[in-house]
Amino acid sequence: MLKTHNCGELRVEHVGQEVTLAGWVHRWRDQGGLVFLDLRDRWGVTQITINQESAPDVHAAAREARTEWVIQVKGTVIRRPDGMSNPDLPTGEVELDVTAFNILNRAKTSPFYINKDDKVEEVLRMRYRYLDLRRPRMQHNIVLRHNVLRFIRNYLAERGFVEIETPILFKTTPEGARDYLVPSRVHPGKFYALPQSPQQLKQLLMVAGYERYFQIARCFRDEDQRGDRQPEFTQLDMEMSFVERDDVLDLIEDMFTNLVEEVTDRELVTKPFPRLRYDEAMLRYGCDKPDVRYGMEIVDISGIAGASEFRVFVENVQAGNPVRGICVPGCGSYSRKQVGELEDLAKEAGAKGLAWMAVEEGEGQVRSSIAKFFSAEQLQAIITQMGAGPGDLLLLVSDTHAIVCASLDTLRRAMADRLGLADPKQIAFCWVIDFPLFEWNEDETRWDPSHHLFTAPMWEDVPLLDTDPGQARGQQYDLACNGYEIAGGSIRIHDRAIQEKIFGLIGLDVDVAKERFGHMLEAFEFGTPPHGGIAPGVDRLVMLLAGEPNIREVIAFPKTQQAADLMAGAPSEAEPGQLEELHIRVIDTE
Ligand code: AMO
Repeated sequence: MLKTHNCGELRVEHVGQEVTLAGWVHRWRDQGGLVFLDLRDRWGVTQITINQESAPDVHAAAREARTEWVIQVKGTVIRRPDGMSNPDLPTGEVELDVTAFNILNRAKTSPFYINKDDKVEEVLRMRYRYLDLRRPRMQHNIVLRHNVLRFIRNYLAERGFVEIETPILFKTTPEGARDYLVPSRVHPGKFYALPQSPQQLKQLLMVAGYERYFQIARCFRDEDQRGDRQPEFTQLDMEMSFVERDDVLDLIEDMFTNLVEEVTDRELVTKPFPRLRYDEAMLRYGCDKPDVRYGMEIVDISGIAGASEFRVFVENVQAGNPVRGICVPGCGSYSRKQVGELEDLAKEAGAKGLAWMAVEEGEGQVRSSIAKFFSAEQLQAIITQMGAGPGDLLLLVSDTHAIVCASLDTLRRAMADRLGLADPKQIAFCWVIDFPLFEWNEDETRWDPSHHLFTAPMWEDVPLLDTDPGQARGQQYDLACNGYEIAGGSIRIHDRAIQEKIFGLIGLDVDVAKERFGHMLEAFEFGTPPHGGIAPGVDRLVMLLAGEPNIREVIAFPKTQQAADLMAGAPSEAEPGQLEELHIRVIDTE
């Protein structure tokens, strides 16, 4: 090794020892006769002092060094003079009195500061990702990710799970996104699809008798990018045989509880994880991935609103639609303009408008343009029902159930954000269960699976598949964390007849189903155990554990919003010869 110790290691007990350190120049200060260098490696920073009088040659060499140069120094550990220690640095009580100074490599000026946690333009960070990754914050995130994965591997291995790799060159998998295709050279005109998840393979591993499988699996989905989505991402993919829903839920809950407490400095505020029925989650939070770190829950006031004189509410309630709202604490002094901004948000989520009431002192007293359509008793009833007090702002929406949910979810998140209600140090998981098995696809006039087409119906709801599929509940479960969907899974169908029935209901032609999933149907006839599983998204999980706003911050080499790698320049054009070998002609569609 070119070093005897690392840069985060030296303490008072090392005083007097001769050591060799190597790393990057983090900062330097040239004070004439004295040069101070902060030397950095992955483990920390150590101060190096070079004295012109005692070591003139070393001093001359050290004066040349600039930030990010790679150097090696040899010297004696000394205690810093009185009053000079740095309590913010673990190595802050000592420094190195250098006797030998070796420049291992010089560095061009970095396109951004590596020694400061400044905001740097995303494009620059992506272009020079290896420099971005050198920054302490990124190193922390990447090491956290490693620690999370190591914990998970150990936890599962101790409980009899086997880690099994599955192919990347495979066949289309039904997770609902567009596939990435890879042309075959050997089979002209044919393509592999990169897996959107190892769903089929893990089920086949259950048929194969492994009983407990996991994999840190790379998944590929060609879909619109967002802050919590990447075209290639990592799942902790798991499957278990002879289990029921609660076996899967209990295992994940225990694993994540221990993970948060042992591996991170975050506070787990949901113990046990609340379990919400899908309907309940939609009513209380307007979404199936609620942030339960704060309240501000949605309240239904259809009964009172429908009896008022306010035509919009009355007509909507008569048509069977709800009137619901949230009570925003302490925002009763919002101006019309401020409420107008909130209305824009509600409209972006589909609402036609936003009604509001600012609660004032006194029985049934509100400031609101619609107050005149309500009696004082009705206003007081709304205030009571919504748990409001003077100074609060009530935001009310009336529309279809779906639009009311979407717009109040948006407003709830936006207001929590503004009011700082969501503590980034807190981690709040919650389960969402009892999803409907299908969603109606109006455009295609057919049922779509709400999870995926291998999800089993509740066994008692199987008869509904013939009579009223929309009412059938699925054995699906989602795990939400701090307002993000972290994991999805289900108990699977292990019976060919039910699987074929599902294919029929989602309008999958028998021949197409056989071509795509014939191997699954066939496998189901060779002694398939009841089984189920789940797949937490590793990137999203680590993002939340690191307190980052975006999954790009916890992926070493992520893609941009346009699914590009700016460092290597991918995707890129292929050589004409390569295309020919692959039997491919590129057509200009512009
Ligand atoms: P699902 O499609 O719900 O389920 O995905 C599971 C979890 O994977 C993460 N995830 C993503 N993370 C980053 N970028 C993406 N583009 C992305 N898409 C999904 C999310 C999500 O909750 N095979 C099933 C699981 C099962 O049934 O066992 C599946 O893939 O955290």
